Amino acid sequence: MASASAVPSVRPAPADPNTLNPAVWPEHAGRDARGVLVVGGVPADELAAEFGTPLYVVDEAAARSRAARLRTAFEAAAAGIGTDVTVYYAGKSFLSGAVVRWMTEEGLGIDVCTGGELAIALAAGADPARMGFHGNNKSSAEIERAVAVGVGAIILDSEAEIDRVADAAARAGRVQRVRLRVNSGVHASTHEFLATAHEDQKFGVPLARAVELATRIRGRDSLEFLGLHCHIGSQIFDASGFGESAARLLGVHAELVRLGPVPELNLGGGFGIAYTEADDPRPIEEIALGIADRVAAACRDLDVAVPKLAFEPGRSIIGPAGVTLYTVGTVKPVPIEGGTRTYVSVDGGMSDNARTALYGAAYSARLASRTSDAPPALVRVAGKHCESGDIVVDQEHLPADVAPGDLLAVAATGAYCWSLASNYNHVARPAVVAVRDGRARVIVRGETEADLLARDLGLDAAQDAGHGASVAAGAPAPTVSTAAEGAAE
Ligand code: LLP
Repeated sequence: MASASAVPSVRPAPADPNTLNPAVWPEHAGRDARGVLVVGGVPADELAAEFGTPLYVVDEAAARSRAARLRTAFEAAAAGIGTDVTVYYAGKSFLSGAVVRWMTEEGLGIDVCTGGELAIALAAGADPARMGFHGNNKSSAEIERAVAVGVGAIILDSEAEIDRVADAAARAGRVQRVRLRVNSGVHASTHEFLATAHEDQKFGVPLARAVELATRIRGRDSLEFLGLHCHIGSQIFDASGFGESAARLLGVHAELVRLGPVPELNLGGGFGIAYTEADDPRPIEEIALGIADRVAAACRDLDVAVPKLAFEPGRSIIGPAGVTLYTVGTVKPVPIEGGTRTYVSVDGGMSDNARTALYGAAYSARLASRTSDAPPALVRVAGKHCESGDIVVDQEHLPADVAPGDLLAVAATGAYCWSLASNYNHVARPAVVAVRDGRARVIVRGETEADLLARDLGLDAAQDAGHGASVAAGAPAPTVSTAAEGAAE
C-alpha cells in the first residue's frame, strides 16, 4: 500500500483519485459499471487484453471534433473581420495515414516539416496543394520532391533557401508558392510572452530583413510570394502573444503590400491544452477572436486590407484525444529526505513519452482497470528504462492501494509522444489504436522484437565479416576492406 503521507506535493490531492477531469481526459472517456476506464466506447481492460501495453489509444471522434471546432472557430473569427482562413494540421505532433485522413475529412490542410512527413501525407492521399512544407535545413532532395509533387507552399526559412527553392522550381519548370518565415521577436510559452528585438534561435529570418528578402523572392520568376509566416512557440494559453506577433508582422506586411501583392499572413500553431488541473487554456473561440481583433485593428491603423489568415495547430487537436495505457509492474516505497516517495513503475517510459524527461512536462494519471476506495497517495510514475530520469508522471495522486497488475492510463498523450518515441534500451515502440463508437482498430502497428532485430546487419557473424550473400534492400552494408584483408589477397 502506497504511503498517504509522502513528500510535499506540488499538486493538490483530489477528493477522489478516481475522477476523470473533463478538461484533461478525452471527451468520450468515462468509467463503466465495473469502474473500468472507457475511451471511445472501449474499456481499457479489453484494449490491454487485445493489444497489450504500453498502448497509445486515440479517440477518433475527439480528434475529429477538435479539428472541426478549431477550424470553425478560426473561420468564424476570420469572417468577422472580412477575411478567410486556412487551418493546417501540424503533422509533427502525430502523423499517420489514418490521422491524415481524419484531418483532411475535417477540412484541414497538412503541415509537414520533413521528407518523411511529406511521404506519409502523400501516401495517405492528402492533396499536396493543401500542404505547407517547413524545415530550417531542407535537403535538395526534399525541396525537389516538394516542388515536383506540387506542395501548396514551401516556407522559406533562410536567405539561402530562396535560391535553392527558386532553382529547383525553375529546373522543374514550375512556379512555386512560398512564404517567408520571420522572427517577430515574440516568444511565448503557456500564459506569458516575452517580446524582444532579436531572437537567438535557428528558425526563420529577422523581421528587419523581411522586405529585402521578399524583394529577392519577387525577383525570381519561379517563385510566387504568398506572405509572411511566424510561429511564436507552443503550449500557449491565450491570444496576447499571437496578437502582439501579428501586429509586428503586419507592420512589415504593410510595407510589402506597397511593393506588390501579399495575399496571406500565417501565424503558425502553438495553442495550449490542459495536461493537469493546473492548466487553464482559454477556449479556442476566444483565442481566435482575440487574434482576429488584433489583426483587424493593426490593418486599420496601417490602412491595409486584412490578408487571408493561416494557422498550423498540432497539439491542440491531437493532444487531448490521446491516452497511453500501461501495466503497473513494481510499486516501491523509497525513503527520501522528509518522507517516503512511492515509485510506481510501468511497462513503458521515456521511449514512448519523452516529454517529461525532455521538458519537465506534467501529466495526469488514473487507475484504468478499476476504481478504489483507498485514499489518494502521492506517487511518481516511472518507466522501465535504465535511467533515473525515466519519469512518466512526476507527481500524481493515485489510490493508495495501486498494485502490480493494475492498468494505468496517462491523459493527453496524443501529441509529441508517439512522434518523439525511440527504441531506447531496445524497447519496441507501442501500437497506436484508434477507438470510436465501441470499436478499436490498430492504426499504427506496434514494433516487435523481430523489427528490432531486422535492421541490425551485424547479428549474422558471417555477414558482419563481409561474407554474407546479401543484405537487406535499401540498407547495404558498407564494404570495408581492412589492411589485413588487403594483404591477404
Ligand atoms: N508550426 C510550426 C512552424 C511549428 O514549429 C510547430 C511546432 C507547429 C506549427 C505546431 O505547434 P503546436 O500547435 O503543436 O504547439 N516537442 C515539443 C513541441 C515542439 C513544437 C515544435 N513546433 C513538445 O512536446 O512540447
